[in-house]
Amino acid sequence: MKRALVTGITGQDGAYLAEFLLGKGYEVHGIKRRSSSLNTGRVDHLYQDPHERNVRFFMHYGDLTDATNLIRIVQEVQPDEIYNLAAQSHVMVSFETAEYTANADALGTLRLLEAIRILDMADHVRFYQASTSELFGKVQTVPQNEKTPFYPRSPYGVAKLYGYWICVNYREAYNMFACNGILFNHESPIRGETFVSRKITRAVARIKLGLQKRLYLGNLDAKRDWGHAKDFVRAMWLMLQQKKPDDYVVATGESHSVREFVDLAFREIGAEIQWKGKGVKEVGVISKISGQRSAVSGREKKSIGVAARPRSLKSAEFASDFSERALRAGDVVVEIDPRYFRPTEVDELLGDASKARRVLGWEPRISFEEMISTMVKADLEEASRDQLCKDSGYRVLNYSNE
Ligand code: NAP
Ligand code: GDD
Repeated sequence: MKRALVTGITGQDGAYLAEFLLGKGYEVHGIKRRSSSLNTGRVDHLYQDPHERNVRFFMHYGDLTDATNLIRIVQEVQPDEIYNLAAQSHVMVSFETAEYTANADALGTLRLLEAIRILDMADHVRFYQASTSELFGKVQTVPQNEKTPFYPRSPYGVAKLYGYWICVNYREAYNMFACNGILFNHESPIRGETFVSRKITRAVARIKLGLQKRLYLGNLDAKRDWGHAKDFVRAMWLMLQQKKPDDYVVATGESHSVREFVDLAFREIGAEIQWKGKGVKEVGVISKISGQRSAVSGREKKSIGVAARPRSLKSAEFASDFSERALRAGDVVVEIDPRYFRPTEVDELLGDASKARRVLGWEPRISFEEMISTMVKADLEEASRDQLCKDSGYRVLNYSNE
């Protein structure tokens, strides 16, 4: 049985990858950093009581900023494959925590590679580094492929640039099987709530149910090549199954603006958005409501995968009651808040994943529209639980405008 060690197991990709590897028959060990409260929600469904027989999923406390602890875990686990997904992964946050981001994202990668070397495992461990399309930053060509020059635009991008090159260097210097997956944006119903995709789908659901009035966003014109995380973790695994280590761009080959994302997410609940005004005064106004239903059927819920959440009591009915919840044509539902503008922005990303298609046989299976649809549906499920509490007189907190 193959054994994988996954850093960042509690994150979006960690959860999908763990599920994927368990499905392939792997023993999976995840590294989770210590926190004062439980944050294992994305992998709780994979947890097995260690006292049971045939347990294949294990968690270890660890931190990318602590070299000795990484060495110990790698030694204890003796993995065949290491997937380094842990990172301070929020671009805007990296401007505020630049040193920490460099420590975790750049030096963290070095620490893991050194652990492999110190433990004399370089000849048999396969290493995946979570590199990113943020390396292309101020893009030098469109679309971007493995040969496109890098020009990172944030402390996050710069830290990941070190991670990329140290991975290449250890491959060349010590003959390690180390691969960079240069992944473009990928989302899902379990995406962190402060990334723009999830912030939008969560707000759309809450606005529909009357739990929130408005969504505040930054740059609506930024364009991203957005795919589904479930497709992207498959590419990570494929990279480590090849004869030779290499670096690959993973992307859908389609680019959409934040504005288009907003339009589609609102359309999912039967509402059309009209954009009015310019610059920071621009607003998104409901122009039409069609009363389209957006409840989640059992079959659709399965396809949501990791993120499928228990249905609330009223979820079958919640979706069509615009009248009760008082969302009307003319309502301003989106506003600009300049707080979300970045000191330096990545305006447009579009990936060319032809190498991954050719060598790995990888291609995305979930479309942009389908991804948004599953995200809105999952967020409607979640919001309906809050709605139920609110309607029953309990206090419901709103962290929607982070
Ligand atoms: P995510 O949801 O933010 O997950 C990041 C994970 O890293 C979490 O488990 C987090 O733990 C953990 N972590 C953060 N700092 C750590 C530290 N110092 N020590 C140990 N663990 C730490 O990110 P994701 O979307 O799954 O992305 C996975 C990786 O791919 C990241 O490296 C990201 O930079 C990269 N990437 C992501 C995308 C994308 O679009 N999603 C695209 C390209 C590259 P907590 O749960 O405790 O916070
Ligand atoms: N987060 C956020 N919040 N972004 C906003 C907002 C907002 O309110 N309004 C507009 N945006 C714009 C950002 O300025 C950016 O251009 C775009 O939406 C996407 O932002 P994020 O969803 O935060 O993702 P990202 O592209 O900066 O970074 C993600 O993708 C990278 C791969 O390209 C992260 O997952 C990184 O870890 C990953 O490397």
